[in-house]
Amino acid sequence: MPSIRLLTDPAPAVDTDLLVVPVFDGEDAADALPAVDAASHGEVHRATASGEIRGRLYEFFVTPTAGDKWKPRLIGIAGAGKAADFDTERLRKLATASALMARGRRIPRVAFLHRGVIPGADAAQAIVEGLILAAFSVDQYKTGERFGPPADDLAVVITVDGGSRASIERAIQRGRVLGESSNLARALANEPPNVLTPQVFAERAGTIARDAGVAVEILDEKAIQRLGMGLLLGVARGSAEPPRVIVLRHEPPGAPTAPVLGLVGKGITFDTGGISIKPAEGMDRMKDDMAGGAAVICAMRAISLLEAPIRVIGVVPTTENMPGGRALRPGDILTGASGKTVEVINTDAEGRLILGDGLWYALHLGATHLVDVATLTGACVVGLGKAMSGLFGRPDSWRNLVQEVALKAGDRSWPMPLYDEYLEQMRSEIADLVNSGGRAGGACTAAAFLKEFAGSVPWVHLDIAGTAWAEEAKPYQPKGPIGVAVRTLAELAFTADRW
Ligand code: BES
Ligand code: MN
Ligand code: ZN
Repeated sequence: MPSIRLLTDPAPAVDTDLLVVPVFDGEDAADALPAVDAASHGEVHRATASGEIRGRLYEFFVTPTAGDKWKPRLIGIAGAGKAADFDTERLRKLATASALMARGRRIPRVAFLHRGVIPGADAAQAIVEGLILAAFSVDQYKTGERFGPPADDLAVVITVDGGSRASIERAIQRGRVLGESSNLARALANEPPNVLTPQVFAERAGTIARDAGVAVEILDEKAIQRLGMGLLLGVARGSAEPPRVIVLRHEPPGAPTAPVLGLVGKGITFDTGGISIKPAEGMDRMKDDMAGGAAVICAMRAISLLEAPIRVIGVVPTTENMPGGRALRPGDILTGASGKTVEVINTDAEGRLILGDGLWYALHLGATHLVDVATLTGACVVGLGKAMSGLFGRPDSWRNLVQEVALKAGDRSWPMPLYDEYLEQMRSEIADLVNSGGRAGGACTAAAFLKEFAGSVPWVHLDIAGTAWAEEAKPYQPKGPIGVAVRTLAELAFTADRW
């Protein structure tokens, strides 16, 4: 992992290869930054006049500095878009885009200069998160030429605006932990399903969590059986790989007994659909059906490293969904640990089954507030596309808080309905529930199913089916896993005064 420095030096004194300087849309870069222009020997002025520099979002212009008065070898003018639209999310993305641009050019040392109205500590956290996010690589299995190595030396330059140095240093540490935790979740989601089996997922989760001081317990198939988790066991039946439940506990000494935040993540290491098998096209993508579980694991890491002042429990049921000879059939009836019975209509609606047992277990362990995260439904992708996670929950105040925290963390989500009509669609004639309510309102009926396992505590469900994986590369996000929800879950653990 790259080193990160906080610098308050004036730009010429910043010891780096590339100094990134944001410029807003319509701003005259040479006028606004005369010293930078001078260092570039008027290149910035020339490029502004010619339209090479326009300040459009994610447009970059790189030019050398000359003379030994400037330590940075290169100046990177980074288009920051309209000043009125600039916020911490933009800043985070701009930092990522800048560092990815530098990676593409194999520039090892990068510094990002903070400009604009965002207060120092908020800006420092966003910049560091963004710079660290750019250090993630999707191509670790390539044996030939790979994308450029991540920068080995990063710096945040904050000269204007105060905030005490200590508060900015804390923000940098927070940004680093959150960025690294996001990248760890991305690495897990990126692993192929033959490598990341449920047992390996549990082992890796254990290592990540223990290294961060989180208490780890891995339930094997016998323990799962003893707890009566028939929904999880039902899904696991078709696979040669045994299921696991990853249980993580953050119990800071002296923390109050309540509240207890319970985080539950879907951990399907590969979803074939089971007997209700999926079409071949795009099935490979179903290796990231554990992205919700990865988010919970890596959020627990951040929660512990950042010393959240409350108790937090993470529960990740993990299994494959395979069509083996002993596989779950449509028509089977399963009994979960809560005692509720479920008629399986479609074996591809497996996430809600394992989450039913997972939510029950989090309640059983004492969670007073629940959030589950799952790549749950294609219907959510149809409804909201790839830009937002589906956000369900009750009461409204809890759901709104999660939405607000998520927005700030860079995980956009949008409220979706939970009316009783959706639950009626999930009633079985011969059991308590069916696991599929058909095409109509598929994301909402799935959420209504989960609600039946969330007891009566405040509960939120994030459907990340559309947001876990980038289908196309953006300047700030390569094609691949996004690490969605990691920062949201971690930041949520610091808002207990508002619960
Ligand atoms: N893992 C899928 C949902 C999914 C779809 C995630 C596309 C990412 C991209 C989930 O297990 C699933 O198969 N859901 C079914 C439910 C249906 C059978 C009721 C779906 O959405 O089609
Ligand atoms: Mn499925
Ligand atoms: Zn699935």
